[in-house]
Amino acid sequence: MSERISHAGLRGKVMSADEAATFIQPGDQIGFSGFTGAGYPKAVPGALAKRITEATERGEDFRVSVFTGASTAPELDGVLAETNGVLWRMPYQSDPVLRKKINDGTTLYSDMHLSHSGPQASQGFVGKVNVAVVEAVRITEDGGIVPSSSVGNSVNYLDSAERIIIEINNWQSLELEGMHDIFRVGLPPAREIIPVTESGQRIGTSAIDIDVNKVVAIVETDAPDRNSPFKPLDDDSRAIAGHLIEFLENEVTQGRLPANLLPLQSGVGNIANAVLEGLSESNFENLTSYTEVIQDGMVSLLDNGTMSVASATSFALSPEAAERMNQNASDYAKKIVLRPQDVSNSPEVIRRLGVISCNGLIEADVYGNVNSTHIMGTRMMNGIGGSGDFTRNAYISTFVSPSLAKGGAISTIVPMVSHHDHTEHDTMVIITEQGLADLRGLAPRKRARVVIENCAHPDFRAELLDYVERAEKGGVSALHTPHNLDESLSWHQRFVETGSMRK
Ligand code: COA
Repeated sequence: MSERISHAGLRGKVMSADEAATFIQPGDQIGFSGFTGAGYPKAVPGALAKRITEATERGEDFRVSVFTGASTAPELDGVLAETNGVLWRMPYQSDPVLRKKINDGTTLYSDMHLSHSGPQASQGFVGKVNVAVVEAVRITEDGGIVPSSSVGNSVNYLDSAERIIIEINNWQSLELEGMHDIFRVGLPPAREIIPVTESGQRIGTSAIDIDVNKVVAIVETDAPDRNSPFKPLDDDSRAIAGHLIEFLENEVTQGRLPANLLPLQSGVGNIANAVLEGLSESNFENLTSYTEVIQDGMVSLLDNGTMSVASATSFALSPEAAERMNQNASDYAKKIVLRPQDVSNSPEVIRRLGVISCNGLIEADVYGNVNSTHIMGTRMMNGIGGSGDFTRNAYISTFVSPSLAKGGAISTIVPMVSHHDHTEHDTMVIITEQGLADLRGLAPRKRARVVIENCAHPDFRAELLDYVERAEKGGVSALHTPHNLDESLSWHQRFVETGSMRK
């Protein structure tokens, strides 16, 4: 343990998780490290949950607000949500228990662009950050924190917090040191230009310098990151990957992309991961990535040499891939850069590098508007995450999804989306297993035909076309973007009433 705390003054702060949790008070806003099941604290949240439960049983009101980089794992979001003690959560989550609490109103949730979340905490837009609880692999001689498997918003939370609790996780490889690139973007009017001109470029330091006087506790842990395994590749995801690869090959042939493409961004979820796995079987070489999470599929590309370098803020690895990463961290550190999320998701850098984005969707409408977050317009799934940061600023933005969900009861191509995350102005390409709709340069009336013909499932095509044709003839609604307003959300209503969008 002491070998991982090189700052002599901080060694005396080591204590149990239960003791450390006593530094967190009712009403506190806590900035946790952690991003997609990587680099989140493993012990203090559980100890805090115990404290909340005991206080609640005594009839006291003990609730806290939870800020993170993005989603975490059952040891953080899960245990805290179980207590009903999470008053407010931002900026992204994917935990089933927390999702339930958000949807039943127990927890208020601000679903934010990830690139906004850290700066908004620093700006004071979301109130004070009372405590930062951050996982590290070690503390340097001068008190710098070497983050573990994610960076996320840790810099913003450590800078803003009144008190700091550090978890040193002995499971995390010491060889992760050197993989991180810590750069402070700062706030207007002195916000820095982020001088990243290539994915793999390092512009900062390997540790986060902190005010050591704010450290109130250090807790030792020894537990793995826990991310859900990915669904195995199926025919749909193979077909989606195939359409995307064919599209990218054609862009190269047309001279709109170089032979090794431009840096790729790949979103969370099974489908985006499957697309990356699919790229392993393509003829592309020397690919690069400027993204937010590195999933199994991207590690495969790095392993087999298809990709030369990847920049992100976190890993989102299956348990097996996480073990492999941990055992070979020093080798991977030559090809992977982990940055704060206001750098990994920076619109400035994404636009400069010309990133090709690829994200999952819940539904898209015939005009190219995309809903990434809400089931039937009301039930929160996960959140927008970084999909807005990348989609709005990408050189080419793509969305991927099977054309059907829930055993065929739902068409993911609908007349009008029931919630808007990405507008038609941002969506360039939509891909389902049926095919690819290239919407670049198309006006709404043309877009509708291409989306229906290329992406909708055949079972729903005729009905979608009928909707659009009637809308185009529909008097006052037959304008630039034709809609039948009285039936534009009727597919969703039918699902709510009958359990299926099918007539
Ligand atoms: N209606 C109801 N449920 C739907 C649906 C729809 N239109 N579309 C998808 N789903 C359900 C699936 O049935 C599946 O449910 P299950 O877990 O019970 O099987 C679940 O959503 C996940 O869908 P899947 O097809 O496996 O795709 P995915 O894992 O790739 O996830 C999103 C898709 C949209 C949920 C996911 O990409 C997401 O949360 N995106 C928003 C954040 C984001 O894009 N971040 C990336 C930035 S880097």
